[in-house]
Amino acid sequence: RRVGVAVPAAGFGRRMGGRRKAWLTLGGEPILARTLRAFLERPDVVAVAVALAADDAADPPDWLIALDPRVGVVAGGDSRAASVARAVAMLPAELDVILVHDAARPLVPPEVVQRVLDAVEGSTGAVAGLPAVDTFKRVDERDRIVDTPPRDGLWHAQTPQGFPAPLLRAALEALAAEPGGAERLTDDAMVVAAAGGTVRMVLGAARNLKVTRPGDLPLAEWYAAHPEE
Ligand code: CTP
Ligand code: MG
Repeated sequence: RRVGVAVPAAGFGRRMGGRRKAWLTLGGEPILARTLRAFLERPDVVAVAVALAADDAADPPDWLIALDPRVGVVAGGDSRAASVARAVAMLPAELDVILVHDAARPLVPPEVVQRVLDAVEGSTGAVAGLPAVDTFKRVDERDRIVDTPPRDGLWHAQTPQGFPAPLLRAALEALAAEPGGAERLTDDAMVVAAAGGTVRMVLGAARNLKVTRPGDLPLAEWYAAHPEE
């Protein structure tokens, strides 16, 4: 199977105090380098497209250019969905599966990537996730609790999210034709579901956290130092 990987890395890191997370270091190397390695170590990965903020894409760091001939860089967009669409558009045509993976999840274990790829086989999509631990509340416009959805069956979606390549491309094109589509659909599974695909959840991992706030960095360092956890 030929696998392509789209890596959105063009966010501004507002919750990180306005620092672009791709360049922050984890275990002494840039977060993006660690994220890319998780995919480049697989021989079935034939291309990786990284969406960077426009100024970074115009002048990417030397280590990124030298990293691997399978890696390409493109300027991202205003939303995660727009960045994913641009990365997918620069992947080669002849792919069986496209994985989408947040640059900000550098600790994804190989078995989670494998589980997503196994579940995509013969299906229309798979997403890594974890069963919810908190109780969820739906509130109205005045913050009054109106509903407590049963926690059974509620999962947190992580990435990778994987899809048959032709289906993801068609779903992204349909979304681009729709005004405001990219803002309404917050992950790739929603994009494919909106195009009629059924997407399955597979077990992710706690260490596959998304580095989002400053407090996530020491936690990520701890996981980086404890590969068995
Ligand atoms: N992302 C992107 N293009 C955007 C917005 C986000 O490629 N316009 C990427 C981020 O770089 C990140 C992933 O999508 O790898 C998940 O987004 P998030 O964790 O929200 O990162 P940021 O958007 O950078 O952070 P914040 O929302 O705090 O600004
Ligand atoms: Mg964001």
